[in-house]
Amino acid sequence: MGAGKSTLGAEAAERIGREFVDVDRVIEERAGDSIPVIFESWGETAFREIEEEVAIETLSSAEPKVIALGGGSLGAESTRRLLRERATAVRVEVDPDEAWRRSRESGRPLARDEEEFRRLYEERRPTYEEAAEAVARTADDVVLAAGGVQVQVGSLELLGDLLPGDGGAALVADAHVAGIYSADAQLALGRRLVSTHTVPRGEEAKSAEVAERLWEELRLDRGGTVVALGGGTTGDVAGFVAATYLRGVAWAVVPTTLVAQVDAAIGGKTAIDLPDGKNLVGAFHWPVRTVIDPAVLATLPDSERRAGLSEVVKTGLLAGERLWELPDAELVRRCAVFKTGVCLRDPHDRGERAVLNLGHTFAHALEAAAGYEEITHGHAVALGLQAALRLSVEHLGLDTGVAEEVDRILAPEPVAVDLDRAWEALGRDKKATAGRVKLVLLQAFGKPVSGVELPEADVREALASLVHG
Ligand SMILES: NC(=O)c1ccc[n+]([C@@H]2O[C@H](COP(=O)([O-])OP(=O)(O)OC[C@H]3O[C@@H](n4cnc5c(N)ncnc54)[C@H](O)[C@@H]3O)[C@@H](O)[C@H]2O)c1
Ligand SMILES: [Zn+2]
Repeated sequence: MGAGKSTLGAEAAERIGREFVDVDRVIEERAGDSIPVIFESWGETAFREIEEEVAIETLSSAEPKVIALGGGSLGAESTRRLLRERATAVRVEVDPDEAWRRSRESGRPLARDEEEFRRLYEERRPTYEEAAEAVARTADDVVLAAGGVQVQVGSLELLGDLLPGDGGAALVADAHVAGIYSADAQLALGRRLVSTHTVPRGEEAKSAEVAERLWEELRLDRGGTVVALGGGTTGDVAGFVAATYLRGVAWAVVPTTLVAQVDAAIGGKTAIDLPDGKNLVGAFHWPVRTVIDPAVLATLPDSERRAGLSEVVKTGLLAGERLWELPDAELVRRCAVFKTGVCLRDPHDRGERAVLNLGHTFAHALEAAAGYEEITHGHAVALGLQAALRLSVEHLGLDTGVAEEVDRILAPEPVAVDLDRAWEALGRDKKATAGRVKLVLLQAFGKPVSGVELPEADVREALASLVHG
């Protein structure tokens, strides 16, 4: 009561593209009276009965929703059970003084006497704590909870507690990351740890051979969880193996690179590569938990940090926030909130999620032209953002200040790749979208537009500016 569930719930629902249901409002509509009146004239027992009925109905609906439950809802065992089985329960934290200040004017039947109000607060608290999987103070917190994402310094050590269920866990890490963090992860998983698996470092991990070896090594049953510890390559292969092993088991991910914390570990895309190209085989399989511990970035080499910075700048441009200026923990958190929101609104990449490709059409063309050897993804994205921003200035009237600022921060050197080869690779992207290059550009800081078609000559000129001969 007085925690702000209705406001927060409505905002979070909007952010993740779900309907919002406020159980108290449904009760009032159904009864045709306000809650104080229902309480007064029907009595608390009758009120609790309608409350339970509405809660069960809402929690049972097939359509995903954001639901604000009334303060007393958790008194019903049936509601608690449905909550466990069908929902992610988020406890909205509020200081009792603040809750009382907000509630006393509301006319709510249980908020008329301060002492009584505080007694109820303390009485209900343990039930709330037991039911909740996450704690929230802001809509951002609710968005993260809805995506199963936890951002917290030190969370690696809490891994065992953060993992839902009580089945076995198989830990997967690359050889280098295993050397630094496996012992901590194993300790945190405790008795749930069934096995530990090592994959090669870098893109080499994302192969059919590595996936096959993991399928053969795993000893999990259907209730088990694959836990990926590492960068985006480890997450991609381990997530794909989890999506397919026994027709799909749960997976959790502890991203350890900046790229993985702000991008790869969020959104449920998993993949391996084929000789013909990257990410050609994969599955959408949302991790049950993404446990982001910004402290592990301390051991990340500078070059890997730079790779992540390109994605941070991309996210900042899309979100309209100078995220790159923030300290690590906050930066990672803001990026995670943004990507979680976009991906929950478009989980299967059929619409809005395309904006995450800002700068990537050019980046992929450069990577393909370089045969993926001569240029890192981060460098390619930095160049791709440069081209996308220039075109945005020329064609969509984006303020030049933004483009200049990004040039200063990322300052990417042009690459020595063959322009014709890169152009051809861009054309292959073109085939995929029925004959035209469709770009993501920025109308303004924080205002992306996807599906933009521009004259070929302009696109080629932008690509040429990224390449030296
Ligand atoms: N699934 C998605 O949505 C998605 C999104 C973006 C990128 N990706 C994929 O992610 C991959 C790139 O991920 P990446 O950049 O994290 O690469 P990576 O997994 O290869 O990690 C980079 C290097 O950093 C090392 N490393 C990792 N964490 C470390 C730490 N804390 N301290 C020291 N060293 C550490 C690793 O051993 C590795 O050598 C690509 O394959 C890309 O396709 C996937
Ligand atoms: Zn990228």
